[in-house]
Amino acid sequence: MVAVRNARLARLYANGTVWMFAKRNRNYGMTQSTIRLAVNGRIHDVDAAPDTALLYVLRNDLELNGPKYGCGLGECGSCTVLIDGVAARSCVIPIQGCAGRDIVTLEGLGSRAHPDPVQDAFIKEQAAQCGYCLNGMIMTTKALLMRNPHPTEAEILQALRYNLCRCGAHVEIARAAMRAAGLLVKPQDLEAQGLEAQNLGGQNLGAQG
Ligand code: FES
Ligand code: FES
Repeated sequence: MVAVRNARLARLYANGTVWMFAKRNRNYGMTQSTIRLAVNGRIHDVDAAPDTALLYVLRNDLELNGPKYGCGLGECGSCTVLIDGVAARSCVIPIQGCAGRDIVTLEGLGSRAHPDPVQDAFIKEQAAQCGYCLNGMIMTTKALLMRNPHPTEAEILQALRYNLCRCGAHVEIARAAMRAAGLLVKPQDLEAQGLEAQNLGGQNLGAQG
């Protein structure tokens, strides 16, 4: 009987079933509860252990794949969402603390047809290589602009300092965040000043647009 059970478990491990179960329910012993979450303006009743990380519920249950799994330790920022307007790392936030909060993911900011101004700035600056970190970069920039609509260049860099980009696209990402904050010099401004648009260089990143 034990041998049969072990053989069955081995098959489940081999095809990944046990791994997927472990990812969804990191605490086997905790009883599942129904927790009501407000995500992107919609109400969801989720059945899960209360200590399940919000990221797993967003991605696995609600199929919102904007937030990404990077480190799973709250260190890289790729899983960032807004909770009551504040940037939060969903890989380390248990859903039990999210009931009654206003949760916004990348999908809730804007659409392909109508992107949020922050998303639009990242598109215009082509601020990505692989793009894996962009969810965190965009959501963190959005949170900054919600609490401070006119940040300085230093404040933007400060806000993004703990968001990691393994591709090294930090210059383009910082430039996109500054565009979103209205800090980039626009070509038409340069033309009005009789300057060549090609002079738009790194030294102008912090100029008021
Ligand atoms: S995956 Fe959440 S901070 Fe890295
Ligand atoms: S663009 Fe690849 S991790 Fe940032």
